[in-house]
Amino acid sequence: MPTTLNTDHFWMPFTANRQFKSKPRLLVAASGMHYTTDDGRQILDGTAGLWCTNAGHCHPKIVEAIQQQAAKMDFAPVFQMGHPLAFEAASALAAIAPEGLNRVFFCNDGSESVDTALKIALAYHRVRGDGLRTRLIGRERGYHGVGFGGIAVGGIAGNRKHFGPTLAGVDHLRHPLDIARNAFSHGLPEHGAEIADEFEQRLLALHDPATVAALIVEPVQGSTGVILPPKGYLQKLRAVCDKYGILLIFDEVITGFGRLGAPFAADYFGVMPDMICCAKGLTNASVPMGAVIVRQDIHDAFMSAAGENAIEFFHGYTYTGHPLAAAAAIATMAVYKSENLFDRAAATAPYFEQAAHSLKGLPFVKDVRNLGLVCGIELEPVAGKPGARAFDAFLKCFWEKGVLIRTTGDIIALSPPLIIEPGQIDQLFTAIGDVLKEQHAASSTVA
Ligand SMILES: Cc1ncc(COP(=O)(O)O)c(C=O)c1O
Repeated sequence: MPTTLNTDHFWMPFTANRQFKSKPRLLVAASGMHYTTDDGRQILDGTAGLWCTNAGHCHPKIVEAIQQQAAKMDFAPVFQMGHPLAFEAASALAAIAPEGLNRVFFCNDGSESVDTALKIALAYHRVRGDGLRTRLIGRERGYHGVGFGGIAVGGIAGNRKHFGPTLAGVDHLRHPLDIARNAFSHGLPEHGAEIADEFEQRLLALHDPATVAALIVEPVQGSTGVILPPKGYLQKLRAVCDKYGILLIFDEVITGFGRLGAPFAADYFGVMPDMICCAKGLTNASVPMGAVIVRQDIHDAFMSAAGENAIEFFHGYTYTGHPLAAAAAIATMAVYKSENLFDRAAATAPYFEQAAHSLKGLPFVKDVRNLGLVCGIELEPVAGKPGARAFDAFLKCFWEKGVLIRTTGDIIALSPPLIIEPGQIDQLFTAIGDVLKEQHAASSTVA
């Protein structure tokens, strides 16, 4: 690290600040599948940054689009004004979205996309004269960003406990992770679809379905360690929502843009939500941007409810549809298409799956779960030190093996750029396997 770097002032998000600053892990450049560190090492990116650089880093066409736009028009308001790129970006996104979801509300990240979708859901019922529907249902271990709406429907204790009661009228489904029955599943787990029945049998029975506005779920729960929906589970949630007029929101902030080998998880599962939240891969993470993709008739309900020249929806951000983000999104959609990256991810997924499951039987590995280009490796924790084993693996991977992995608790979560090659998949899983063996050897020596 350059000795001149002062790390005091940046309060880092979701980071053990003191640990980091005692030996900073600094990235200074990126290209394709790799980062370059400040000490000149190449690091294979096993996490697409944070589940976001799906087309690989610094894609030249995306870089060029941003550079050109920055020189042409830096900013234009979209409150009572407009600029063409915002409309073009919305059309490009609608073109790859599931049929019928074709109205796009832009924001700046995943958290804002979630809060926007929740507000659309509440307001939609109200503009239709169904204002009793004010309850929102999320899921345990769900991650929906860090806005107050997102942490309310989210199900991660650490993200909620310091911040008071958040939103009223929220409840949560049980998450479907069941290692006892589903360990080392290849793809979707066999067991657990019946957990979806609790939505109707417990939550709706308790609250009265007529008071529920929306259910929000990640089709694949990512941030809390890759929790896959059991076979038939999402279909059941959709059926219950249909039965009671409840909107189904898919938070596809990580599953969108080819992560499962299809444009969206909705396409992969053949389950159509009423709204999709997305961000990250929308611009290949080159410029912050999020969006909610909305069923047309939901949008149209707002249009027909408001008077002439009246604002139909009192919501928006200064940077909604920002020109740089819009230019990046248009270029990113074009890259996904011209390079056929979603199909490429689907074609790579079987190799990735085999490599992931090669870790079965290695020390501490209690589950491997995978889908598309996502994999979770759950480790036995060190007694009395939750998270320590995986965090140590993360550090060793970074400093000694030249690969970037991500951990949450004692789960390693992998989500490489969709351009990953078989040899790089081997490098990634070999590095993790070697680290686990070394950890085991060290713990045996200590014992
Ligand atoms: C499913 C999901 N929703 C929302 C978010 C929040 O996105 P952001 O960090 O861009 O606000 C994330 C971030 O990882 C996510 O995984």
